[in-house]
Amino acid sequence: MARLNINGRNHDIDVDPATPLLWAIREQVGLTGTKYGCGIAQCGACTVHMDGNPVRSCVMPVSAAEGKKITTIEGLAVNGMLNKIQKAWLDHEVPQCGYCQSGMIMAATALLNSKPKPTDADIDSAMTNICRCGTFQQVREAIHAAAKA
Ligand code: FES
Ligand code: FES
Repeated sequence: MARLNINGRNHDIDVDPATPLLWAIREQVGLTGTKYGCGIAQCGACTVHMDGNPVRSCVMPVSAAEGKKITTIEGLAVNGMLNKIQKAWLDHEVPQCGYCQSGMIMAATALLNSKPKPTDADIDSAMTNICRCGTFQQVREAIHAAAKA
C-alpha cells in the first residue's frame, strides 16, 4: 500500500513500492496524460514534477514518491486556466503527433519556474526530451514566447 499526493489529492493505492511511479499514475490512479516512451529515463515522455522538480517517472519507484507533491500534466491548469507554457504551445502549434508533448510541457514549465528568462543554452540543457516528430524548434520558440508573457 502506498499513499501518493498527485495534483493536490491523496491516493491510497495497492502497489509494490518498487513499481515505477509512471505505472501507478497511469494504471492505479488513471491519469493517462503522462506517457511511456523508453522506460529507461532517456526520452522524457513520462516527465512529471516531484516537489516542483522534473523527474522521469518511468524509473522513479513509488517508494521515492511517497510524501512528495507530484504534479502531472492534468494538474498544470488551475481552475481550467492553462499556464503560460500551455498557452504558448497552442499559439505556436507545437504538437505534431502529440505523444511526447505532455513530458515536454512538464519539462518546460519546470524550466520557467526555475529560470523565468532562459537562454537558448538553458533550454538546450533543460529540454533533453526526445520528439520523434522533430518539434524542437517550435518548443524553443514557445518557451521564449512564454518567458515574455
Ligand atoms: S519513458 Fe521515461 S524517459 Fe522515456
Ligand atoms: S510531437 Fe510527435 S513525438 Fe513529439
